[in-house]
Amino acid sequence: MEHLKVNTIGVLTSGGDSPGMNAAVRAVVRTALGENMRVYGIRFGYAGLLENDMVEMNMKSVSDCLQRGGTILYTARSKEFAAPEGVEKAARILRQAEIDGLVVIGGDGSFRGARDLTAAGIPCIGIPGTIDNDIACSDYTIGFDTAVNTVIESVDKLRDTSKSHHRCSVVEVMGRNAGYIAIHAGIACGAIAALVPEVPFDIDRDVCDRIKKTLHLGRSHFIVMVSEGVGNTEEIARYIKAQTGVDTRATILGHVQRGGSPTGRDRIIASRMGYYAVKLLRSGFGGRVVAIREDNIVDYDIDEALSFHKDMDRELYHLVGTISI
Ligand code: F6P
Repeated sequence: MEHLKVNTIGVLTSGGDSPGMNAAVRAVVRTALGENMRVYGIRFGYAGLLENDMVEMNMKSVSDCLQRGGTILYTARSKEFAAPEGVEKAARILRQAEIDGLVVIGGDGSFRGARDLTAAGIPCIGIPGTIDNDIACSDYTIGFDTAVNTVIESVDKLRDTSKSHHRCSVVEVMGRNAGYIAIHAGIACGAIAALVPEVPFDIDRDVCDRIKKTLHLGRSHFIVMVSEGVGNTEEIARYIKAQTGVDTRATILGHVQRGGSPTGRDRIIASRMGYYAVKLLRSGFGGRVVAIREDNIVDYDIDEALSFHKDMDRELYHLVGTISI
């Protein structure tokens, strides 16, 4: 979809927050101001948009946020916006505010909203921001690196106490439908297995037998990484203990994984994507998703982006178990 003139834009963050969202907002605001555009920060995502909760931003509005986790624009999930009347109302509010383009930072659900708003006449650009790394059109999503490093830091601590007690730690990480955090943190933390929603597993074969085998080889402590989408982590821990005899504890890391100062990688990719998104709007393009492919920033039609499927890298999956035995 191509439009002629975009002079005033809005920016919002939507869905689960992720470290680096602020860096993206900052890049959007500063790039837009550099292009002599006006820019409004819309607070609390689409829910805030429906409440007309927006404020005009200047250079200073985004000072001192680059290194902070969370999102200075706040975020929400909105049921009202998911309905066609909600989209129409949002488009009306944007038109009344003379906002003629919108940058949406979030996940797949947020992009579906951006597609609908684009169809309602407001050109939108999506930027992938989620710790889950599960946006199919992009190799990477803002926040993933920080989240993996947060998990690593916690599991290194768990490892100390597991080792002291000769225990197994079953660690539940985020990712209802995506195992990227579990696989990557599993590799980095020496987990004996990573159980993820994308790959069917057999707990006896893939976890308990491995533990029993390595017990014989003299190993005394174990980390098992589990994505939240896989099942009940406490039950998995009880089962492992019953089958292997190894004292086992479950730890659910939870929302701590979503916070913290973004890593360099997240800040840089977020800044590149924010800059690119504004350039697209400025050039008259809407209905696009910004992505990163082999370290190049690219863009896709939103519908095409939403139709992509991202396969779990089976080699990474197998690597977890192979190198920790
Ligand atoms: O999409 C990001 C994510 O953190 C998922 O990993 C997790 O399943 C979900 O959000 C949790 O959502 P909420 O913040 O609503 O508990």
